[in-house]
Amino acid sequence: MSSTSSSRRAARRGGADGRATRRPPASAPPRRPLRLLLIAGARPNFMKVAPLLREFRRRPALFDARLVHTGQHYDELMSDIFFDELEIPKPEIHLGAGSASHAVQTARIMEAFEKVLLEERPDWVVVVGDVNSTLACSVVAAKMSPPVRVAHVEAGLRSRDRTMPEEINRIVTDALSDLLFTTSPDADRNLRAEGAPARRIHRVGNVMIDTLRRFVERSDRSDILARLGVAPPYALLTLHRPSNVDDRQALGRIFAALATIGKEIPVLFPAHPRTVKMLREFGLAPAEGVRSGLRVLEPLGYIEFLHLEKRAALVLSDSGGVQEETTILGVPCLTLRDNTERPITLTHGTNRLVGSDTHAIVREARRMLAAGPRRRRPIPLWDGKAAARIAAVLANQGTTSGAF
Ligand code: UD1
Ligand code: UDP
Repeated sequence: MSSTSSSRRAARRGGADGRATRRPPASAPPRRPLRLLLIAGARPNFMKVAPLLREFRRRPALFDARLVHTGQHYDELMSDIFFDELEIPKPEIHLGAGSASHAVQTARIMEAFEKVLLEERPDWVVVVGDVNSTLACSVVAAKMSPPVRVAHVEAGLRSRDRTMPEEINRIVTDALSDLLFTTSPDADRNLRAEGAPARRIHRVGNVMIDTLRRFVERSDRSDILARLGVAPPYALLTLHRPSNVDDRQALGRIFAALATIGKEIPVLFPAHPRTVKMLREFGLAPAEGVRSGLRVLEPLGYIEFLHLEKRAALVLSDSGGVQEETTILGVPCLTLRDNTERPITLTHGTNRLVGSDTHAIVREARRMLAAGPRRRRPIPLWDGKAAARIAAVLANQGTTSGAF
């Protein structure tokens, strides 16, 4: 597979970033395990760290991995539930950052994480995705003296929309990362175009899909549909992008579309707390919900959400992860955005961009419901083994002290 060729070349060289080029002589004492700090803070991070931590913990001779929870998300249904469901060990370190403006939230995480780094002195900080926790911990690590190396999982994705906070987080994190683990060829190209050296880039696949493949059978046994009293066909909706939910006009346009779609098919809507807050602030939610056939729910656990996602006739969403999951599940996905940092879900998957125009959403929803499941092409390396590839690359890196 060409996509892993850089990993294989790196493995042959003995170090993916070219720093550790020689194997220790046979007589040398074994190297101490690499000390890793793995960062998670917000909902989509938990699905991504779960398989990584599992891989690292399976190899205690190679890795001493500790989990840091920044506390960016803190509600039971946005955080703790995923630790139980996805069998993620309790975080060793909790930064308790909580919600605030971008600057304040990022600064709180940075301040707390600097203390952790001074104490822990890891060889690597491993960050995932594109949330504020990802950015904050990368910046602190890269500015330590001496710097702590950063590995970014899900590197290189670009929406080319700098009004999106995540795009800033992606660009900065990638610029600071020593290892860039990517999911798709477009991500490799983006990184190369920004000047990242090829030796840093490793296409390994998609850790979010590792989690999907591991838990999809368990989710088949969920009784969530019976508990909701709903049977297929239904549509599933998630919504939380600031461009959609913090803007009264955009949110109004989307809810006008849902009012129409909801008359044709039930729409299940596990609502993100940000969206609940904004719906209340704009006075939009309950009346619209009751009249339109829209069923507003609390955020769901992963197992229940996956059960609903797999069986939905249509998913409407502005989530990043949901675009990828629907692609693998073969479920039509209408993305309520004008752009995506995950173009492979358009070319190989079931995703279609529609923006927030009322008529366009209704028209595309009807079209996709009539067409049924979409044809898709397999995506190389989205096979459930991405975390194992990442562990293999990291295992070839030297420790900070170089102590053998
Ligand atoms: C964050 C990420 C986004 C990701 C999303 C996943 C950034 C910039 N954004 O967006 O990329 O797609 O998480 O869900 O990092 N809130 C609660 N309880 C919680 C968490 C949040 O009530 O446990 C509410 C608070 O009112 C908070 C708001 O949601 O102010 C937004 O939370 P925040 O973490 O700032 O951003 P998200 O919109 O969740
Ligand atoms: N998800 C979940 N419960 C929900 C909605 C989503 O478990 O009620 C899962 C979903 O399956 C995916 C992840 O949350 O694995 C996506 O997170 P989110 O949409 O919050 O963030 P994004 O991917 O947009 O950054």
